[in-house]
Amino acid sequence: MGIGEQQAEAWTSVLRAEQQSAMDLGAHLGPADPTAYTTRRPIPDPFPIDRHGPARIIAMANQKGGVGKTTTTINLGAALAEYGRRVLLVDFDPQGALSVGLGVNPHELELSVYNLLMDPEVGIEDIRIKTDVAGLHLLPANIDLSAAEIQLVNEVAREMALARALRPVLRDYDFILIDCQPSLGLLAINALTVAHGVLIPLECEFFSLRGVALLLDTIDKVRERLNFDLDLEGILATMYDSRTTHCRQVLQRVVEAFGDKVYQTVVTKTVKFPESTVAGTPITTLDPASSGARNYRQLAREVIAAQAERDDR
Ligand SMILES: Nc1ncnc2c1ncn2[C@@H]1O[C@H](COP(=O)(O)OP(=O)(O)O)[C@@H](O)[C@H]1O
Ligand SMILES: [Mg+2]
Repeated sequence: MGIGEQQAEAWTSVLRAEQQSAMDLGAHLGPADPTAYTTRRPIPDPFPIDRHGPARIIAMANQKGGVGKTTTTINLGAALAEYGRRVLLVDFDPQGALSVGLGVNPHELELSVYNLLMDPEVGIEDIRIKTDVAGLHLLPANIDLSAAEIQLVNEVAREMALARALRPVLRDYDFILIDCQPSLGLLAINALTVAHGVLIPLECEFFSLRGVALLLDTIDKVRERLNFDLDLEGILATMYDSRTTHCRQVLQRVVEAFGDKVYQTVVTKTVKFPESTVAGTPITTLDPASSGARNYRQLAREVIAAQAERDDR
């Protein structure tokens, strides 16, 4: 892996130039259907399971905010749970958006992920919340977590705090999804250190590739120093709007750059997502037949299929 800042800059300028020419000429629109860019092979239906664990830990990371990390954590988690998987979601952003999106008021928490990291007396069972979706559990966070970033700096094995905290429950879950904050600070490094894979949501927008080089470099560094087997789980195109030319071009470029690392699932842009955040419910529950719910169910099938393939090897 390892692509440089220059490469990312090059992509961005190519994309910008293309937008310009497309606007001028209305020329060469690709197909509007996103699957035209990503589809490679059928996605199998998940097999039922009767035993659980050990968990595959996936960090949702992108230091850019507003790209769909939290939305993906909630809805991929809910969809995996619908398929009978046991899922633990970790709110690892002091903004607490994941907690809010699941109907939890972060201001009312007595104990949160912050205490789990900093206080050896506090265990997962002290902070864990069962959501309304069967099999979907949450470790909530609030603004307290921002202090952990500073306090951990002076600790021994400061990159391992989350790994240490999650260890007792690895056998209880099939998937643990960590919703990272939009930065590459110590909290993000903690998430990358405990994760088996990194899922990068990318907004289908011109500047989305900016910063990805830095993220990939960070992943490389963590792999070299802290977590030798860290995988790039996949790249997820989000907020796809089939009516805009540049969305299609961005998707096409992303597929050219990352090949089969790009999920076949593309999440379309719909107001149902902000609505589901306000309702504090996953879209899969709020509006099970919506395109957004179908997108995340398909993503869940891809994630489960990839896991099954790894188990076979
Ligand atoms: N596919 C989508 N279509 C429309 N809005 C979306 C979509 N995915 C996320 N959103 C909205 O965009 C905003 C940012 O998404 P969020 O998941 O919070 O991003 P992040 O966690 O990366 O900051 C939220 O208001 C969310 O409801
Ligand atoms: Mg977020």
